[in-house]
Amino acid sequence: MLPLSLILLLLLPNASATHGQTPLLAELTENWNLNTPPSPNATGNLVFNTISSLLQHWPNTRYHSGHTIVPGVIPPGTLLFHARSDPQVPTAREWASTDPEFARIFCQEQPEECWLLTLVTVRPLRMLYFDGSSATKRPDGPMDTQDLIAWGAVLPERSTVEWEYERLDRMCDWGQETGFDAFNAAQLRNYALRLYRGVQTVSLSHLQTDPVFPHHGYSFIHSSEWHDHFPGELRIHLDLTHAVSMYDVDLAPSLVGRRFVANDRREHRVLGIDQADIDRVRDRVSQIPMTSASKSGIDWMALFKVIRDQHAKRLQVLQGTLHEATSDSEDSAQRAFRIVLSILAPYLLHSAVPLLSSQDTTWAAPVYQLCATTHTSFAASIKSLLTPSERLLLNAAQETMREICRTLVGLWADGVQVLPRTFSKTMVHEWQAEVDRLVAWLDWDVWLTCQPACASDETCHLPGAPFFMHKWNVSVPRCLRLFEPYSPIDLDSSIQT
Ligand SMILES: *[C@@H]1O[C@H](CO)[C@@H](O)[C@H](O)[C@H]1NC(C)=O
Repeated sequence: MLPLSLILLLLLPNASATHGQTPLLAELTENWNLNTPPSPNATGNLVFNTISSLLQHWPNTRYHSGHTIVPGVIPPGTLLFHARSDPQVPTAREWASTDPEFARIFCQEQPEECWLLTLVTVRPLRMLYFDGSSATKRPDGPMDTQDLIAWGAVLPERSTVEWEYERLDRMCDWGQETGFDAFNAAQLRNYALRLYRGVQTVSLSHLQTDPVFPHHGYSFIHSSEWHDHFPGELRIHLDLTHAVSMYDVDLAPSLVGRRFVANDRREHRVLGIDQADIDRVRDRVSQIPMTSASKSGIDWMALFKVIRDQHAKRLQVLQGTLHEATSDSEDSAQRAFRIVLSILAPYLLHSAVPLLSSQDTTWAAPVYQLCATTHTSFAASIKSLLTPSERLLLNAAQETMREICRTLVGLWADGVQVLPRTFSKTMVHEWQAEVDRLVAWLDWDVWLTCQPACASDETCHLPGAPFFMHKWNVSVPRCLRLFEPYSPIDLDSSIQT
């Protein structure tokens, strides 16, 4: 059998290129100096991360203040659930979730009665998705982007239950004008579909109310785990070509200064955005066309995933090996160097040879450029066809690849100049610092896992929203048993949704 990755092309590329020339590399005028780091205000890594994290529970628990608004479609035939303690079928705007395990939690108020309404979509529902823990009513960020749509201002004092239906009404009124059926204030696995249009009743069931878990928090974690990681919730089809991001520095320049003084990405939020930027964001969202209008046809999610696949594991092992190498033998330094070679192999040009006895690394620039631009040169060559959102995604992929390649080619150029002599301890320390810096800058959530790995009947859980904040620890996930015998978790809080 052929390996999955082997595709036989029937077409020959329409290559006007002669030997060794790469016709799409148009970015020749750029600066390929290995010593030029990205601007501290550049957001390519942040856009890359937030886009890669859409519809996944784990990374949106880690960074609970959403920055992205993306249009999407829920296809016909999708089940939606709404639970309550009376048999009234709601006729006005209400919430629903994609998992009954989540909906049923809302019978909790009056445990003696539980009615589960099961709905099905009968046509594609057009919806707006808000990332972050955007169903968590907290004043510290998760509602910011919804506030922009509901009120045209960030109003943290309205992140309470009392304002819930007012917010819902305002968003739905706005949705009616702009052609949206539903809004997803997501706890990621749970879509508060906030408009009852395009759905039919499947059943209205009076359920037993005996608790099936020691605490309803277990049910919540059960269903959230299904959507923890890529590809996340598949029942919503997002249109990335109209994604709107608060990390877009052209769209929301007033947020640059606030991020500049933040100590940590968890401090990033939309509060403090100025009026001109709010108007621009609302304009962009209201101009999202009814159907996706991408002329490029580029699959951005696949491109981002390929970039993560190619680097996530190898960068992690490289980092670990370099940490060993600083305390240990020359052998680990050599192994680390060979990992760099394995990542850069497709870009190591025959013509790239070190200049003898010189600190000058300009000879490595063609390798840096090839590595940094290969994934994106086609998209860059058709930039005029791209939507503004696609240009943001292109920039994110470019900046991300550029920094990965700058760091790795820097290491390689350093090492090649020394070989076959052994790498000095100073050099290995520098490499370690460089890779630590790159990994922190990329900050991919695949690197945050339970170590050692959990048993198959355990769940690797990241304590964060919607549980009360004194329980949060989003840098240290832990293995939990959500089956008997249950791990004792102190869920004295109720869920803040
Ligand atoms: C980054 O943004 C801050 C705040 O707006 C500004 O003071 C600083 O000069 C900017 N830095 C660069 C390198 O653009």
